[in-house]
Amino acid sequence: NVFDGLVSLADHEARASQVLDAQAQAYFNGGAADEITLRDNAAAWQRLRLAPRVLQPLSGGHTRLSLLGRTLAHPILVAPMAHQRLAHPHGELATALAAAALGAGMVLSTQANVPLEQVAQLVLGDADRGPLWFQLYIQPDRAFTQALVRRVEAAGYEALVLTVDAPVSGARDRERRAGFRLPPGVAAVNLAGMAPAATHPGSVLDHASAHALTWADVDWLCAHTRLPVLLKGITHPADAREALEHGVAGIVVSNHGGRTLDTVTPTAERLPAVVDAVRGAVPVLVDGGIRRGTDVLKAMALGASAVLLGRPVIHGLAHGGAQGVSHVIRLLRDELEMAMALCGCRDLGQATPELLV
Ligand code: FNR
Repeated sequence: NVFDGLVSLADHEARASQVLDAQAQAYFNGGAADEITLRDNAAAWQRLRLAPRVLQPLSGGHTRLSLLGRTLAHPILVAPMAHQRLAHPHGELATALAAAALGAGMVLSTQANVPLEQVAQLVLGDADRGPLWFQLYIQPDRAFTQALVRRVEAAGYEALVLTVDAPVSGARDRERRAGFRLPPGVAAVNLAGMAPAATHPGSVLDHASAHALTWADVDWLCAHTRLPVLLKGITHPADAREALEHGVAGIVVSNHGGRTLDTVTPTAERLPAVVDAVRGAVPVLVDGGIRRGTDVLKAMALGASAVLLGRPVIHGLAHGGAQGVSHVIRLLRDELEMAMALCGCRDLGQATPELLV
């Protein structure tokens, strides 16, 4: 087996670094500025300590859950990540295929490198697949955005994930040092034909004030789609409460994997307050630094409905295509099941805050 010797997500990262060039590594692995949050996201899950129960009945144990009206085999979804053909020629097609085969949900980025319809056609017929969602960046051209949403609906996507934590891109020092540029042939094809955004010579804030979203845009989107809308990038309980008032279907607690604003609190530490604010009204998902089955279990214990997995998926993709992605998801799922059994959890409903010291 080509994956012999790869027993953890960290092993996949090491293997990926043998095949990705310096620019691609800077793009995929890097974060904003000093990468404090990038590191802290993972460290925060590691810092949490488990308090397992023993001698609990485990018969009939499973990882199933229900999310937005569907039954999922397990709580691991693939996070939206742009430009996956930079990692492997099959790009998002390979990722989607692997996710479907493993029953993992897939969130396709607005900045994917393959047509969104192709991804949907590839996986929608798979009976055991997880949910297929589309991550939306609302474009300055609202007519274009609306047409994009129509395409997403027509293709069969089941929810929109509106990313709200990146009104401007972060200070991506590692990328700039590496001189990162998209190579020819790798493009955000689903945005093709869009009128170029008006340029705002001057400051970053000039740009932001022209393009940054507000709650009115959330209302606009909810009014212009029949799909449930989740907000990705909420970390403040006050924002979570406001999101509920605007009728969102779910929240993703995320700091963009530490790629936007550096030195924000890691998601593991923000999750409980958001869960508390939402009070079960809608699902709360979380991402950032999840690398172990124990991390997934800790997220569930803190009240997450499911988790999104980012960079490790890219690592599997980079060196192993669809099979590499499958292997990564398989490892994490196996680790989750081990962690559940060792903590005395027969199902995810038994992952409660008491599991954490
Ligand atoms: C991202 N992320 C992201 N998020 C989003 O909403 N739209 C996007 O297009 C992208 N693109 C993207 C590219 C790359 C290379 C990475 C690593 C991340 C953020 C992503 O969805 C997720 O929030 C984090 O990656 C989760 O953290 P981990 O698991 O990577 O630590």
